[in-house]
Amino acid sequence: MRYVPTLERLPADVSKVDSEFSISVIEGLSRAQKELPCRYFYDARGSALFEEITRLPEYYPTRTEAQILRGCASDLVEDFRDGDLFIEFGSGSSLKTQILLDRVAARIVYVPVDVSETALADAVMRLAVRYPGLEVRPLVADFSRLTALPRDLASRRAVGFFPGSTIGNLAPREAEILLSSFRRVLGKDGRLIIGVDLKKDQQTLTRAYDDAAGVTAAFNMNLLSRINRELGGTFDERAFVHKAIYNSEQGRIEMHLVSEREQDVRVCGRIFHFRKGESIHTENSYKYKVAEFRDLATRAGWQAERVWTDANNLFSVHELA
Ligand code: SAH
Ligand code: AVI
Repeated sequence: MRYVPTLERLPADVSKVDSEFSISVIEGLSRAQKELPCRYFYDARGSALFEEITRLPEYYPTRTEAQILRGCASDLVEDFRDGDLFIEFGSGSSLKTQILLDRVAARIVYVPVDVSETALADAVMRLAVRYPGLEVRPLVADFSRLTALPRDLASRRAVGFFPGSTIGNLAPREAEILLSSFRRVLGKDGRLIIGVDLKKDQQTLTRAYDDAAGVTAAFNMNLLSRINRELGGTFDERAFVHKAIYNSEQGRIEMHLVSEREQDVRVCGRIFHFRKGESIHTENSYKYKVAEFRDLATRAGWQAERVWTDANNLFSVHELA
């Protein structure tokens, strides 16, 4: 039998997860422009649908970032010292991480952090098979609330990993705040390897978020099923459609769920009215130029060091110190 570590929660995160979910939903649906926080996409079904998205022909970010990481892995590995913590924020399946773990597993402690308990549990099982000697300390936590590491790990030097352009799901000012908080968690000797999606032609962008097979639509719609399942909501999924648009002024893809008719929906005992054509804004995915992101990282207190991109300039991997 192999040793599979148990998922750990920080004391501050022994969560009022359910009540937080209902508060966020009630608050979000009460706004003039209805909105829902995108971190709630990732229940078990949402995490599985995201994995499917990463394999879609239209969704270039995952395979492009993996290709960049394969190219710069030996440079990145120079960042690691024996005994380092390797902390991944929003680790999901930890699949891309294997490109680096293949080179450093024998000498580091891997700390995957994710809100999705199922994604984390699956990843930990797979890693135990692939790297029998690797120490893994999984944390079920919201990375934006991570203020410190478990006490027995706190004295180690840390390398952070934040791939997938998950940083793009935050508005620039929030992204800056998150990067400064990572700086505090990782310590003054800490480093951060971060994947950032780049600005590009609108067609490539909108296709990536509205694929022909409808997987992204199902991923978006799952938020309504989750509200129905967990909060006793009465959303009729057939009465909403998925929409992805590029907002060029803000430099972001926006995902919405658009009500196809006038309707009332009950959630947590409250009624929310939808006009025909009214939308719930469910996600932003900001895109950056290399220089724009380096400026943002600098404002957050990091020094922007090396950066790698692919030949088509689709995606970037930055090293911050
Ligand atoms: N790193 C992987 C997965 C990216 S998908 C990759 O590059 O492919 C984004 C992941 O971040 C999901 O697994 C989701 O559950 C997690 N996530 C989203 N918001 C989070 C938050 N606030 N705190 C912790 N994890 C979060
Ligand atoms: C996790 N995050 C970076 C993805 C993105 O591209 O913004 C989530 C996603 N949404 C739709 N497709 C993928």
